[in-house]
Amino acid sequence: MKARIVILPGDGVGPEVTAVAVAVLEAVAAHYGHEFTFDRQLVGGAAIDAAGEPLPAATLAACQAADAVLLGAVGGPKWSDPNAKVRPEQGLLALRAALGVYANLRPLSVHPALAALSPLKDEKLRDVDVLFVRELTGGAYFGAKTRGADYATDECRYTEAEVERVVRRAFELARGRRRHVTSVDKANVLETSRLWRRTVMRVAADYPDVALEHQLVDSMAMLLLTRPASYDVVVTENLFGDILTDEAAAIAGSLGLLPSASLGEGRAGLYEPIHGSAPDIAGQGVANPIGTVLSAALLLRHSLQLDVEAQAVEAAVGHVLQHGPRSRDLGGHAGTAEVRDAVLAALAGHIAHADAFPRGVRACG
Ligand code: NAD
Ligand code: IPM
Ligand code: MN
Repeated sequence: MKARIVILPGDGVGPEVTAVAVAVLEAVAAHYGHEFTFDRQLVGGAAIDAAGEPLPAATLAACQAADAVLLGAVGGPKWSDPNAKVRPEQGLLALRAALGVYANLRPLSVHPALAALSPLKDEKLRDVDVLFVRELTGGAYFGAKTRGADYATDECRYTEAEVERVVRRAFELARGRRRHVTSVDKANVLETSRLWRRTVMRVAADYPDVALEHQLVDSMAMLLLTRPASYDVVVTENLFGDILTDEAAAIAGSLGLLPSASLGEGRAGLYEPIHGSAPDIAGQGVANPIGTVLSAALLLRHSLQLDVEAQAVEAAVGHVLQHGPRSRDLGGHAGTAEVRDAVLAALAGHIAHADAFPRGVRACG
C-alpha cells in the first residue's frame, strides 16, 4: 500500500528516536512491498526557532493531509521560561486539537525480561496488560486561562459529548480485550468528574457485556501500584491520564518504553512515545527509541490497517528486550544506534521465519 507519513522530530531526543522509527518503517515497507513517503516538518521549539511559532501553518497542513503523523517530543529548557509568550508544548496541544484526536491510547505491558527494572515485586507484574484511554483534547489543558499579578486560573471544562465519545471508544476497545472498563475521576470533588461519571454510567448501559468499575484518581494512583494486573481498559480525563501513564511507565521499567496512539473519528492518527524531550540526555545518542518504535507499530495497526506488520515490529522489539542490547535506562550500555540495529536485525529475522513457516506457530521473541 501507499501511505504518506508526516514525521515531526521536534526537540531534544525527539529527532534521535524518530529517526529509529523511520528506519523501522522503511524496513517494513521494503520487506512487505509498501510505499511509505516521509515528510519531515517542524514542530515545538525547533519550529519556534525557525519560524517563530510552535505549529507553523505548513506543518499543520501537512499533518491534515497525511495518513498518519509520528512525533518525537517537544520542549526543553531553552523554551521553558515561565514568562515566555510562546511555548513548544502549545504546538503539540494545538496539533492534537486540530487533528481532533480525542482518544489517546497508551498500552502498558511488562516484558518479563525487564521485571527487575520495575519498582514492583515480580508477583505483582505477572499478567499486567492495561490499555489507558486518555481523553486528549479537553479538560484543563484547553480551558480558559487567566493570569493576574498574584493569581492564575485554568478552567477545566468538559461537555457531555466530549466525554461520551472517548468513553464509547474505551468500551469498544474493551470488547476486543478482557471486557472490563475502569473509569477514573474525582467525582467526590469535581463537577466535571460528576458529569464524567454520569455519562460513563449512561454509555455503559449500551455495553452490558463489559464490566464497569469507577475509581477516584487518588485511589487509582495507589491501586496501579498494588494490583496493576486487575485492570484492563482504564479511561480517564486528560490531566489524570497524563499523570497515571507516567506512573504506568515506571511499572514497565522505563518511561522510554511506552508508546501512544491518538485517534479521532477517521483512520488518520498522531503517534508519539509518552516521554518528553529528555533534555538531560539529548544529543548524546543514548535515548531509548523503543517507545517511538512501538508507536510506529501502533501507526501501522491503527492508521494503515497493517496488523501483520505491526505484530512483526512488536515481536522484533520483544526479541531485543529479551536478548539485548539495552539502552542505559534499561540498565544496559547500548546507544540508540545499537538498539536500532538490533531491532532491524530482529525484524529481518522475524520476517524470514514467517516466510519460511507461513502457517506454523511463530516463535519469535
Ligand atoms: P521527560 O519525559 O523528557 O524525561 C523524564 C526522565 O525520563 C528524564 O530523566 C529522561 O532522561 C528520561 N527519559 C525520557 N525519555 C527517555 C528515553 N527515550 N530514553 C531514556 N530516558 C528517557 O520529562 P521532563 O524532563 O519532565 O520534560 C522535558 C521536556 O519534555 C519538557 O519541556 C516537557 O514539556 C516535554 N515533554 C514533552 C512531551 C511530548 O512531546 N509528548 C511529553 C512529556 C514532556
Ligand atoms: C504527554 C506530555 C504532554 C501532555 C505535554 C508535553 C503537553 O506530557 O504527551 O504526556 O501533557 O499531554
Ligand atoms: Mn505526559
